[in-house]
Amino acid sequence: MLGRLNHVAIAVPNLAKATRVYRDVLSASVSAPLTLPEHGVTVVFVELPNTKIELLEPLGEDSPIAAFLTKNPSGGMHHLCYEVDDIAAARDQLVKEGARVLGDGKPKIGAHGKPVLFLHPKDFCGTLVELEQA
Ligand code: CO
Repeated sequence: MLGRLNHVAIAVPNLAKATRVYRDVLSASVSAPLTLPEHGVTVVFVELPNTKIELLEPLGEDSPIAAFLTKNPSGGMHHLCYEVDDIAAARDQLVKEGARVLGDGKPKIGAHGKPVLFLHPKDFCGTLVELEQA
């Protein structure tokens, strides 16, 4: 079912500061910030040769990463994103296996313009998993 690792997401309290760390200290290629109101985050992409890092900052009052940052005030690894060939088929198979899909179970368009779903961390070794249509 799983394809490539699309990205690792890191939630951060201050996106400008995190951007400076990746761009200036780690000398990585970093995108301009992109606001995603539907997902309650502002995101910056760090492009690596084999994958991406997403730096996520809360956007708006009820951002889904706000509680995570309350627990991890200096930031931390938030989720892993795996590519799948057919997101609806993957979801149906996972639900049949007893896994919980977050939200209403319908794929939303994610940061890369492709359908995504999130899976409950308690069903996946304590890690929030995002699936993205390849
Ligand atoms: Co993501």
